[in-house]
Amino acid sequence: MKVVVIGGSGLIGKKLLNNLLQQGHEVVAASPSSGVNTITGEGLAEALAGAQIVVDVANSPSFEDTAVLEFFETSGRNLLAAETAAGVRHHVALSVVGTDRLLASGYFRAKMAQENLIKASPIPYTIVRATQFFEFVGAIAQSATDGQTVRLPPALMQPIVSDDVAAAVADIAVGEPLNGTVELAGPELIPLDELVRRYLSANRDTRKVTTDVHAGYFGTEVNDQSLTPGDNPRLGPTRFEDWLSRSIPQG
Ligand SMILES: NC(=O)c1ccc[n+]([C@@H]2O[C@H](COP(=O)([O-])OP(=O)(O)OC[C@H]3O[C@@H](n4cnc5c(N)ncnc54)[C@H](OP(=O)(O)O)[C@@H]3O)[C@@H](O)[C@H]2O)c1
Repeated sequence: MKVVVIGGSGLIGKKLLNNLLQQGHEVVAASPSSGVNTITGEGLAEALAGAQIVVDVANSPSFEDTAVLEFFETSGRNLLAAETAAGVRHHVALSVVGTDRLLASGYFRAKMAQENLIKASPIPYTIVRATQFFEFVGAIAQSATDGQTVRLPPALMQPIVSDDVAAAVADIAVGEPLNGTVELAGPELIPLDELVRRYLSANRDTRKVTTDVHAGYFGTEVNDQSLTPGDNPRLGPTRFEDWLSRSIPQG
């Protein structure tokens, strides 16, 4: 099958392409760095010609409220229109667990808009909502840093490593469209403050995490239900400690 990966040069995109290639599919990496732009439409029709499956793992270059909403709305509209013209049979998009509970955040409003466009389009789809990637924990720490202090709530999370996301998305993409949503999460629940404490400690980062129930997640208040999946998530096997010990240079 011909599979087009929108955002194929990104963290998930690269790994997804490898997984699909190994399964013997014809894959096309589509993003601005390879001449395909879902905002301007450049190269889109050519990339989609003859494709059965499109997986959208692109992300906005800016997370500013207006810019990110405009990115996911414009990109979604252009992409779905081009897929309709090309006769694509399965549209898969990567979203975030808890999107509908976090609409106080501009980023999540943009992801909700992306999901709503997909649901309103005639193309059969599967939305894959993942929890936060292990690789994203450094950015969470950065967003909550003031001098040497990192202020974070103890809200539960169930983060997942990007390799496990890419493996699951590859599998889902070549399966039947669900016209629904699947959740992906890691194997363990970890409070957000504790997760960042472990990450900083493993990196020998001297910043200190202060627990504050009202400290937001990128400015949005969260509780134990905000970022965690529902009853039947598909679980990635990789534990945070194992990823930390293999991803951080020793010595
Ligand atoms: N971070 C997390 O913890 C997390 C958790 C759950 C879900 N997600 C979702 O996972 C998805 C992928 O995230 P990621 O971290 O893998 O992204 P990433 O590494 O930041 O990669 C972003 C990709 O988007 C592409 N892109 C940017 N503008 C584009 C455009 N106009 N047209 C087509 N492609 C464009 C980039 O292409 P170029 O390199 O060519 O510019 C790049 O391939 C996102 O949708 C995000 O919402 C993230």
